Amino acid sequence: MSFPLVRNRRLRTSHAIRNLVREHAVSTYDLIYPIFVTHGSGIKEEISSMPGVYHLSIDRLEEEIREVTALGIQAILLFGVPEHKDAHGSSAYDANGIVQQAARRIKEWNPQLLVIADTCLCQFTDHGHCGIVHFDEAKGRAEVLNDPTLELLVKTAVSQAEAGADIIAPSNMMDGFVYAIRQGLDEAGYEHVPIMSYSVKYSSSFYGPFRDAAHSAPQFGDRKTYQMDPANSREALREADADVAEGADFLMVKPALAYMDMIRMLRDRYDLPIVAYNVSAEYSMVKAAAAQGWIDEKAIVMETMVGFKRAGADLIITYFAKDIARWLKEE
Ligand code: PBG
Repeated sequence: MSFPLVRNRRLRTSHAIRNLVREHAVSTYDLIYPIFVTHGSGIKEEISSMPGVYHLSIDRLEEEIREVTALGIQAILLFGVPEHKDAHGSSAYDANGIVQQAARRIKEWNPQLLVIADTCLCQFTDHGHCGIVHFDEAKGRAEVLNDPTLELLVKTAVSQAEAGADIIAPSNMMDGFVYAIRQGLDEAGYEHVPIMSYSVKYSSSFYGPFRDAAHSAPQFGDRKTYQMDPANSREALREADADVAEGADFLMVKPALAYMDMIRMLRDRYDLPIVAYNVSAEYSMVKAAAAQGWIDEKAIVMETMVGFKRAGADLIITYFAKDIARWLKEE
C-alpha cells in the first residue's frame, strides 16, 4: 500500500460527494424568529443597533407575520415593549397587555404559526429587573426577591396562554420558575402548553443591543444574582437538572456562540430538545462587519448555524431567521 494510508480527501472530491457525507444541516423548521411588539400605531422603527430588526405596533405586525409565514418559518418568539412600567411589571400579566394583544391577533392571522411568549418582567418593571425588588435596609442593598416573583411569572404565563401563546418561554432565572409555571398552567387548564425554559442563561454582555431594543436595561445594579456566571459550566448542569425535574419541555442555552460547549454538554446529558439562542450582539457584530464589507454575511451566518447544529442544538432562535429561510429557498 502506498503512502498516505488514509486519504480523507476522497470524500471531499465533489459537491455531490460532500452532500452525501454531510452530517448536519440547517432547515427552516429549526428556526425561531424573535419579534418586538410595541404600543402605539403605525410604528415600524428599525432598532439602530440591530439593522433589519424592527419595533412594530400591532397594526404593522400583520405584514411581518405574512412575511414570516411566506418564508416557511413556523415559530416566532414574542417580546413586548409596553407603554406602562411599574415596580411589579403589572402590564406583563395584564390580559390586554401588549404581548397578549399581539398573540391574540397573530393567532387570528395565522393559527398555525407557533407563538412563543417570552415570560419575564424586565421589560415591564420601571427598575428593569426581572423580578420584585426589595431594598434591604439592614444589608443596605436592593435584592430581587425570588418566591414573590414566581407568583407574578405564573400570572404572566397563564395570561399569555389565555391569549393564545402556544409555548411559554420563561427567561427570568428565578429558582423554581419551571415548576411554578407548570403548576399554574395546569391549574388554569393549559396542561398541554409546553415550557421552553431558558435553563442555562448567562449574565452576558451579548444582550446589550436587545436591552436597547426592549428598553429593559436594569436601572441599577446588574443581573448577576440571578443569571449565571460565564465562568461556570457544572453549574449549568445543576440549572438544567432542576428544570428537567420541574417539567421543562425544551432546554435553552443563551447566549450561543461563546457557549457552544454548554450546548454540547446539554445535548449529551438530556434527551429533551435543545434550543440555542443566537442573541442580539451576536447578530449586531455580524451586521456591523458585513456593512463594512469585511465579511461575507451569508457564508458567516450559515457556518454559524450549522455550528450550532453540530454542537447539538435542535432549534435556533435567531434574528437572522428570515434571511436564512430566504437563502434556503434560493438554493
Ligand atoms: C429578558 C430577555 C433578555 C433577552 C431575552 N429575554 C435580556 C436580558 O436577560 O437582559 C436577551 C436576548 C438577546 O440579547 O437577543 N430577560
